[in-house]
Amino acid sequence: MMRITSYEMTNFEVNHLQTVRQGAPESMVLLKNAGILPLDEVKTVALFGSGARETIKGGTGSGDVNVRHFVTAEEGLTDAGMTITTEEWLTGYHKIKQQVTNEFYSKLKQKAEQDGVNPMLAMMGKTPLEPDYDLSLKCDKTADVAIYVLARNSGEGSDRRRVRGDIRLTETEKRDILALAKSFPRFVLVLNVGGLVDIAEVADQVPAILLLSQLGTETGHALADVLLGKAYPSGKLTMTWAPISDYASTANFGDPDNTEYREGIYVGYRYFDSVNLKPDYPFGFGLGYTSFMIQTQQVTLKDDQAILKVHVQNTGNRAGKEVIQVYASAPAGELDQPYQELVTYSKTPELAPGAAVDMTLHFPLTRMASYLEEKAQMILQPGDYRIRVGNCSRRTHVVANLHLARLVVTAQYENIGGTTDFTDFVPVGTPLTYATETEEVTKAPILTIDPKTIKTKRVAYNKTVPASLGTGERVKWSQVVTGEKNLSDFVAGLQDEELSQVLVGYHTANPDDDVFSVIGNAGSKVAGAAGETTHALSRLGMPFLVMADGPAGLRLSPVYTQTLDGKLKELTTSFANLAGADRDNFMQEVPDTPIFYQYCTAIPIGTAIAQTWNTELAKTYGDLVGAEMAQFDVDIWLAPALNIQRSPLNGRNFEYFSEDPLISGLTAAAMTQGVQKHPGKSVAIKHFVANNQETNRQSSNSVINERTLREIYLAGFALAIKIAQPHTLMSSYNLLNGVHVPNRFDIMTSVLRDEWGFKGFAMTDWFTTGGLETDTNATHAPTSAPGEVAAGNDLTMPGLPADTDAILTARLEHGKDQPYPLTRGQLQAAALRIMTVILQLSQNRSKFGEKEASIQ
Ligand code: BGC
Repeated sequence: MMRITSYEMTNFEVNHLQTVRQGAPESMVLLKNAGILPLDEVKTVALFGSGARETIKGGTGSGDVNVRHFVTAEEGLTDAGMTITTEEWLTGYHKIKQQVTNEFYSKLKQKAEQDGVNPMLAMMGKTPLEPDYDLSLKCDKTADVAIYVLARNSGEGSDRRRVRGDIRLTETEKRDILALAKSFPRFVLVLNVGGLVDIAEVADQVPAILLLSQLGTETGHALADVLLGKAYPSGKLTMTWAPISDYASTANFGDPDNTEYREGIYVGYRYFDSVNLKPDYPFGFGLGYTSFMIQTQQVTLKDDQAILKVHVQNTGNRAGKEVIQVYASAPAGELDQPYQELVTYSKTPELAPGAAVDMTLHFPLTRMASYLEEKAQMILQPGDYRIRVGNCSRRTHVVANLHLARLVVTAQYENIGGTTDFTDFVPVGTPLTYATETEEVTKAPILTIDPKTIKTKRVAYNKTVPASLGTGERVKWSQVVTGEKNLSDFVAGLQDEELSQVLVGYHTANPDDDVFSVIGNAGSKVAGAAGETTHALSRLGMPFLVMADGPAGLRLSPVYTQTLDGKLKELTTSFANLAGADRDNFMQEVPDTPIFYQYCTAIPIGTAIAQTWNTELAKTYGDLVGAEMAQFDVDIWLAPALNIQRSPLNGRNFEYFSEDPLISGLTAAAMTQGVQKHPGKSVAIKHFVANNQETNRQSSNSVINERTLREIYLAGFALAIKIAQPHTLMSSYNLLNGVHVPNRFDIMTSVLRDEWGFKGFAMTDWFTTGGLETDTNATHAPTSAPGEVAAGNDLTMPGLPADTDAILTARLEHGKDQPYPLTRGQLQAAALRIMTVILQLSQNRSKFGEKEASIQ
């Protein structure tokens, strides 16, 4: 194996940093600019704020990537040649923050110990509220500019809070931002956040606001590039920003047992537009350093597609990129409809001042269909569909009316997902409108949709229990590889016990050990990998797959050693910061064993990647991760994550893309394709489905009506699967209408495989059969491993002996009072799906590091 033994930076790291630095400005959303940015002639900076020195590169939890180093805002500005005049403030803040953080965690730990709860679980994703403090702002008033970097952090295991210090500003932040805005003619508020922060209390009085987001390793450099005009921001929001009390989901968020999605399809802009409520910053909004003219020149219909020709010209004085967004307003009928929904988008290439480009955008008409639950049909209701084009959801013009004379059924499904005892919210009153809307509608061309061009999709649902492949002779994996035998022969040759092992991940933990200590470092082959498929069949030569976390890069142990008995041992992550004697002492801790390095690149968080509205760039990030997977021998990346940002309060939103399923699905598909460019490398898209809060995440029940489930929560996954065919998928912890998702046959088989044609295998999220619960009074029990196999969720991860036992018992005691009795055919079908992917990926596996060592 070609492990990296030198601490020096490798070529691929250098190149990947460049990729991130170059791409990062496309994630930044300029929210306001009263002639301040870009900053010309700046040498001295008065720098303040929680994110100035303690910059956040991405949230916490399994999505946190262990990097060699990442560039803070302070460092980025200093590297760009700026002199920071506020050392005293930054040091003062650092001390306060450290103290608050230490106290916070030691209190949590103490309490967990008192309550007899696992401290790691009790602390998971919890971050202290931003404190109030008194630090003098006195500084050299002659500094050329004042910059206030405001940061928030969150992560897996906990949700955000609607209070000051989290979603809202602290009194201190408010006071300091307003004071600085007053005393400095040039002042910039920078938001180093992974999601919403309500800045309404200061926004009016601040001349420039830049949503930096959390951009991984190069956050600080990219910030300096944009502030100083070496690069320009071209991101657009993928979530509506408004006061937290205004979101339709706020009233029904975070119940530990049952969270009712009563707002229905009215998530994000679908709600704000339909009830004509003005957000602070609308979905799709973002400024640049220049201006654009957008002219829709032609709209046509061809077969079942709408095609738009749009001319875009840079009318300002600086280079830039613009995002053309196309929305459709469907006519209401039996089904109510939101004011508008995004149907396609495209980003221009860089346009120099004066330069123009002609863009062609298209979308399938079926994208405008809605779900009629009573008949289990996707339908296009008759009437006029308004097509709107613009560069923000609230800055569009009507460019065409598509007329449909009769109702068209675009897909005939069957009911799935269970039921609720409520009906979804339906907006009343007048939706959003604007001065010229009626005139635009009258003037826009009317195009008639020929209903015959739209075929009804019909689905063959397969409900039969898979037939047994029988019991055959023993086959070696090498015979399958050479084609002498096929996988079905291999599977037929396995005992039930062996099959049950294939359906559970490889896990070395002694059941008496603290199983949680292995999270993030469960790899026997790759240090820091999150899990592996079984090793049980290595005697027949079957290889295993290695899985590592994301989504903000590849999460591995950066420094490790291999002990004399062959075990991988993670070394401290702060190793990189050690120097001189400290380093020598440290090395003595692990005498006679080599030290290996796996420094991976932290890419922008999921939300920031979606904010680029640039699927090619999303593909580039996937490509970057794929290259690092090849370098470090990881087969499956546990990413991208595409749950819908139903509420800004979800602690894990930063990992996700958007409140909108279209942009979520397209971004996930592009990242998947980027990874899959690398032979033998693939992804597990996650967390399928309706995992939209972290509070009591293992046993929280998402209560959702089917139309909402299909149109909002399933839609992004459908797109990602149909476009990119990821080899694996991770189901979610939560229940859906009373049953855990991995135990739902209708979701894991009827929807996933029969309706969408998913060909890979499905795995659970980690420890879903029990052990991670934080609510000891939880109403709902964990999932069942045999129930997963029965539903079509093939693999239980990370895999505990109890899971294998449960599956085997359900098989052997078939017919005896088992809640999920399993046949041999069911075991074989699931094993076959897992092995098909093992075969596909391992055959293409490059020898360790060889192919990719030259990715310079
Ligand atoms: C997270 C997943 C992650 C897995 C493995 C779980 O706690 O929800 O997103 O991939 O752990 O680390």
